[in-house]
Amino acid sequence: MKKILLILVGVLMLVSAAAQNHPDWLKSAVFYQIYPSSFQDNDGNGIGDIKGIQSRLDYVQSLGVNAIWLNPIFKSAFCDGGYDVIDFYLVDPRFGTNTDLVELVKEVHKRGMHIVLDLVAGHSSAQNEWFKQSMEADANQHFSDYYIWTAIKPNDLTQQEASRWVEANAPRARYYIKNFYDCQPALNYGYANPSPSHPWEQSVDAPGPQAVVRELENIITFWLEKGIDGFRVDMASSLVKNDPDKSATIALWKKINGWFDNKFPEGVLIAEWFNPKQSIEGGFDIDFLRAGNLFSANMRGQTAPAKVYFDKAGEGSISNWYTSFKDQYESTLNKGYISVPTGNHDSPRIANSERNDSQQLKVAMTFFLTLPGIPFIYYGDEIGMRYIPNSPDIEGSRTRSGTRTPMQWDDSQNAGFSTAPKEKIYIPQDPDLNRPTVAKQDKDPDSQLNYVRTLLKLRASSAALGNDGEWKLVSDVNKPYPMVYIRRNGNEKYIIAINPSDKKVDAEFSTLNLNRVAYTLGTTSKCSYKAGKSVDTIKMPAVSAVIFKFE
Ligand code: NOJ
Repeated sequence: MKKILLILVGVLMLVSAAAQNHPDWLKSAVFYQIYPSSFQDNDGNGIGDIKGIQSRLDYVQSLGVNAIWLNPIFKSAFCDGGYDVIDFYLVDPRFGTNTDLVELVKEVHKRGMHIVLDLVAGHSSAQNEWFKQSMEADANQHFSDYYIWTAIKPNDLTQQEASRWVEANAPRARYYIKNFYDCQPALNYGYANPSPSHPWEQSVDAPGPQAVVRELENIITFWLEKGIDGFRVDMASSLVKNDPDKSATIALWKKINGWFDNKFPEGVLIAEWFNPKQSIEGGFDIDFLRAGNLFSANMRGQTAPAKVYFDKAGEGSISNWYTSFKDQYESTLNKGYISVPTGNHDSPRIANSERNDSQQLKVAMTFFLTLPGIPFIYYGDEIGMRYIPNSPDIEGSRTRSGTRTPMQWDDSQNAGFSTAPKEKIYIPQDPDLNRPTVAKQDKDPDSQLNYVRTLLKLRASSAALGNDGEWKLVSDVNKPYPMVYIRRNGNEKYIIAINPSDKKVDAEFSTLNLNRVAYTLGTTSKCSYKAGKSVDTIKMPAVSAVIFKFE
């Protein structure tokens, strides 16, 4: 009996230790994602930079966010917007210097905020010195096995595998394996089950892959020691090849995260994995979940596919999203954080030709900023910047450029983004004369910007609405307008109802036996909550969202 008890206590201690592996600041973290080329140009060359970001920190803080994620800023050939790194230890001159970055970090910390960078763990630029050396005929040099080289291309490869073989005709070998574009050779973290007949498939613990992991740890250490608070890890699930169930990749990250947590207990690693069940098992603090299918499934942004949930037509469904969200949320509860970002640099913005009035965008923001886990606001989403279809393909952006147009600050030249001539601007800005700007919305108490600020203030004031508060759908998943969910922490309870449709709607559900409504915040004052003996009812006008706080 005593033995069993001891084992139980041990297991409990282990579980709670795992749950505590995240720094405390994540409990109230709200991130703001900045695409550095597009935020604020300080030196007048038409491209954003670090000093520009620094000059806007007061604004960022005024939103109520307390952490920043910067897309890649290391020296790059920009064949993929900075995700092709030439030197992982150097800030790209377009953005400034390492010293500028350290200065920015100081300013961020002075305001009590945190800042994370983007770590492209899975690949480098083909112009990286490591890659150049690995191309040389002598395969015994320091960087020779940092990449995956092969003389042959077997014909039994799956189509997906075959698409990764890039013909280089280097002295070293004919082909290398890429991770994304051809200009992004995959770093060699080994193969899950190396096949003896495939000599390029090294095991995860072979010297090459081990050296790459050491390099990754060096990069992390270099920047964390300069004061950076952590990284968002690009394509974190891509490291170990031929690993369909990701067990070898999870094991690798478990080791790296174990090392990281020990060395930098206040640091965070955020996975770009889109599967928190796996990434959090691998020791990550946060991973993203897509809400894309509730909004739009295409990058063109012109014609949203029929039956999107956040659409005035009100014909969408939440069931696919709900099933996967609930599963991910429940499976990672108390282990790590999920995040449903308002957008990012790879997907169309929530505001586009289909969804562009401020009421609709406020409804969407109410949804994002009342979910459990860690909110991420993509720059410009707080003012409803639009996805701009047919923007030119810049630096490998393809259709993603419409989501990366420069920030709209005010009504001055280039919306206050840059003093450069208009044709020099990184990506042309929204040409609409009535485009939203920070200056206009700042003055208007009813603006989307001020609504976002109010939402974040409310969120910060409450453990129930905060990152760790419980979440549960209370309305019928098959009757999605409105979607109603509860956020709770002990006795503190909030009900949130979301109606993106242009129809008046009601929801009825088994009574939650809540006390009186103490406080209401929403896009309109016309939503009502009626508690009944057996059934509670919410009534909502067209395109509305509401948060009820109960006594
Ligand atoms: C994901 C990044 O978010 C995306 O922008 C990039 O193109 C690929 N990874 C390749 O690094």
